[in-house]
Amino acid sequence: MKKITIAIDGYSSTGKSTIAKLIAKKYNYIYIDTGAMYRSVTLFAKKNNLVGENYLKKDELVKELPNIDLKFKFNDKLGFAEIYLNGNNVEKEIRTLEISNLVSKVSAISEVRKKLVKAQQKFGKNGGVVMDGRDIGTVVFPNAELKFFMTASAAKRATRRYKELIEKGDDVSYEAILNNVQERDRLDSTRLDSPLVKAKDAIEFDNSDMGIEEQFKRICSLIDGKINS
Ligand code: DC
Repeated sequence: MKKITIAIDGYSSTGKSTIAKLIAKKYNYIYIDTGAMYRSVTLFAKKNNLVGENYLKKDELVKELPNIDLKFKFNDKLGFAEIYLNGNNVEKEIRTLEISNLVSKVSAISEVRKKLVKAQQKFGKNGGVVMDGRDIGTVVFPNAELKFFMTASAAKRATRRYKELIEKGDDVSYEAILNNVQERDRLDSTRLDSPLVKAKDAIEFDNSDMGIEEQFKRICSLIDGKINS
């Protein structure tokens, strides 16, 4: 059976990673969460006082890029690969609202994107990969055999993210999450380098009112069509 490359792009909190993990499990593919990579660089910048609510020390961060090592290690118990920043598992630390509020600033830096895109292309060079992000079908793997583009209303997405964070015990308000979702949509779609846009050949899913199971079923039949062709 053919091992293909599957790109899943779209707005934040549209369930991209949930779908990508299910695909990886079913087809025995490598799953790469590229948002986790941008979040990890942001965490590094935050810890080194290179980014904050009102500032970004771009040139200093760019100089530090060679000192940022990112690796994914498969966690058997969880069934997916977790991200390590300079040897430390940062899966939890990168998912806070604080990092979500800073990540669009860091991910707009071209030098950061160049480094991460290069690493992503290396991870996926042999196919059999499902990658989620914002520019996978447009920049990282423009020749991916299958491209999906996920959207949903900002209110639906904020509600999902709010539930996730509350379940984890974070002290956040719905309004703060909605704000973050809308602001990230704006920043990610308007940045100069690799903005979030739907690739011409991507298949769009508006999952405002579609459950994960329904989406997964439809996506699997498209994948099956490709790998059996
Ligand atoms: O998928 P996520 O919400 O964890 O991504 C966090 C941020 O990282 C997102 O707001 C924009 C940035 N990002 C990006 O610029 N390019 C990608 N391929 C993935 C994420």
